[in-house]
Amino acid sequence: MVQKIRKAVLPVAGWGTRFLPATKAMPKEMFPIIDKPVIQFIVEELLEAGIENVIFVTGRHKRPIEHHFDINRDLENHLQEAGKEEALNSIRYISHMINPIYVRQKDQLGLGHAVLTSEPVVGAEPFIVSLGDIVLEKGSKTLCDMIDLFNRLGKSVIALFEVENREVSKYGIVKVKEIEEGVYIVEDLVEKPSPETAPSNLAIVGRYIFTPRIFDKLKETQPGKGGEIQLTDAMRLLLEEEVLYAYRIEGKVFDTGNPVDYLKTICEFALKREDIREELLPYLQETISRYTQLIDKP
Ligand code: G1P
Repeated sequence: MVQKIRKAVLPVAGWGTRFLPATKAMPKEMFPIIDKPVIQFIVEELLEAGIENVIFVTGRHKRPIEHHFDINRDLENHLQEAGKEEALNSIRYISHMINPIYVRQKDQLGLGHAVLTSEPVVGAEPFIVSLGDIVLEKGSKTLCDMIDLFNRLGKSVIALFEVENREVSKYGIVKVKEIEEGVYIVEDLVEKPSPETAPSNLAIVGRYIFTPRIFDKLKETQPGKGGEIQLTDAMRLLLEEEVLYAYRIEGKVFDTGNPVDYLKTICEFALKREDIREELLPYLQETISRYTQLIDKP
């Protein structure tokens, strides 16, 4: 009998160095995509998959995340008195959406170490790991499909998507064998390889379901790429004992983990919204033509 998945781990302790100085005092997970912080998108995706127990692996300067999912009575009273019903409902909804648990990663020793920090709270049961900088399209069935796969196959499942060859060095890359449409057995993994040595252009993309065995493997994992304890390296050790499955994401993947991709994400989400598109689209078109002329000039 396969154990039910009830918990998700969200590692949010990173420095956010790609966004300094903006991240000096502000968690990158709280950066807005228009008017909603990135972390809320990740949490809403979990809720859609039926997961309410969310374990944040947090660190210094990450308090705004805790405040975001807390009740703010002062603000609620203010909005009530001001008759701002819609805003009031939106903040009340956030305060009650999940059962948050905060675990502190004392030292930032890498993603693998962050996941290991959650062990006392996760215990001996399967769990999800969602990375805060990858946002999936609204209505994406990725997590639900991954949970179904886990329930059917009983072993760890990771999400993949195809990247350009020149981009492989930004991701964990896998060597796989397809067993059914969009489902694979993982044969090998390597964290951020060079395009010359990458075993494929299928990248690990921030959604994982693990059996608790991963914790034992994380304890054995030595520092790898960048001197950090890498989750990818622990998965490689897991492969020696357990089958590891992969699921290819259909639909768009938004990486908000670096300034340019973050900007692209905001543009796309803004253009999706009718109330913004009307004004933004002509502005973008005019700006593009102005810059195109500028670039074309000798
Ligand atoms: C992490 C993982 C990497 C994965 C990537 C995107 O890297 O280590 O394997 O491909 O997230 O989900 P990071 O972006 O934190 O450097």
